[in-house]
Amino acid sequence: MGFNYKINPINTKLNHMIENSIVYRNLKKYNFFRMSKAEGSYIWDEKGKRYIDFTSGWNVTNLGWNNLEVAEAIISQVKKNAQGLLWGSDPIQEEYSAKLTSVLPKGLDACAKATGGTEAVEVAIKVARAATGRKKIIGFKKSYHGQLFAALALGYSPEMVEKISPLVPEFIQMDFPTSELGEDNFKKFLVVFEEILSKKDVAALVTEPGIITGWGSTLIAYPGFLKAVRELTEKYGTLLIIDEVGTGFSRTGKLFGIEHEGVTPDIVAFAKGIANGVSAIGTAVGRSDVFEATFPHINLVSTLGWTPIACAAALKTLEINLRDKVWEQAESKGNYIVEKLNPLVGNAIVDIRSQGMEIGIGLKDGETARKAIDECFAKGLHIVVGNDNNLQVMPPLTINQKDLDDGLEILISVLLSI
Ligand SMILES: Cc1ncc(COP(=O)(O)O)c(C=O)c1O
Repeated sequence: MGFNYKINPINTKLNHMIENSIVYRNLKKYNFFRMSKAEGSYIWDEKGKRYIDFTSGWNVTNLGWNNLEVAEAIISQVKKNAQGLLWGSDPIQEEYSAKLTSVLPKGLDACAKATGGTEAVEVAIKVARAATGRKKIIGFKKSYHGQLFAALALGYSPEMVEKISPLVPEFIQMDFPTSELGEDNFKKFLVVFEEILSKKDVAALVTEPGIITGWGSTLIAYPGFLKAVRELTEKYGTLLIIDEVGTGFSRTGKLFGIEHEGVTPDIVAFAKGIANGVSAIGTAVGRSDVFEATFPHINLVSTLGWTPIACAAALKTLEINLRDKVWEQAESKGNYIVEKLNPLVGNAIVDIRSQGMEIGIGLKDGETARKAIDECFAKGLHIVVGNDNNLQVMPPLTINQKDLDDGLEILISVLLSI
């Protein structure tokens, strides 16, 4: 099997990943976007054409591209100190850790330093194995948790990673119980899940909080999913690791996705929107008693994890989220988008799956989705195909009403015309 994107540039998941993983030179690729600047809800291409952005760089620039307040926080920190110590801390690191844990459920009181989402998830997996003394890890098919070996082992199908296999042993992949599959399917999932857990050899379940944002399918879990997996993992001594890399920082209409079902996981991973894209930073936040089973015994360190400048950006990002209750904007604008698009369901749109401003629009096939994107680009709307036939709509949460309306007008007119 090869990466033959010329034969089938539209439908395969692999091609999509290739386009997004390499900066090509001298290659005029279909839908490959060369940006030259960005501000608020706009990005500009290499020729200076302005686009309304419906991607936020895939859930990163939730507060608008190049948010000035976040930029200023980083500028003032860089004048004080830019790099931290492996064997100590900087005040801004401690301040950020205190602030982040103060808005998470009680008990989640320790932050592991990381540079991004993959690293945060991988730290969480290692902690789970060390803390439980168990090896097995459960993930969901068609989910994405990062590009390193264990993160890939959570959700990638074996044929997709054939060339780089073996990944990591003892990973079990289950089907995600989506709401469309209904209650019976959900109940069957719980029976199988409990059967696996009851052997008491599973260290952790790793999942996004009831909505898969990472792979691009925008899959929504059957209601009660998070609560149910929390109860069962607790019952059998399995840790619950929630990946909030895509859902965190207001995207789904709550500050964090776990708030939708009021669940307290054992470890939660953050990145992407954590610093609004101004600096690389991620974190796994957990209970200190759980972390202590790992960190003193294994040298898990991240030299560039939580640089003081990244912490300054993350702190300002969190402060803005809290000050402006950005999650309320995500909820109301998300509902507005769905209301505007709903009349197209059954016609130009097959289905809409959404939580807050994380919205998946199912079209009839991958070719239609690619065509839609091409035409949106031509009309000045920047949007991405999440996966195959799914457009993934993730505008900056701070987008103003006029830009939102203008973007929707382009999207609707394109969908009605193809
Ligand atoms: C849900 C989820 N988890 C983890 C990751 C990995 O994050 P990063 O690319 O920062 O390593 C991603 C990235 O797309 C993601 O969407």
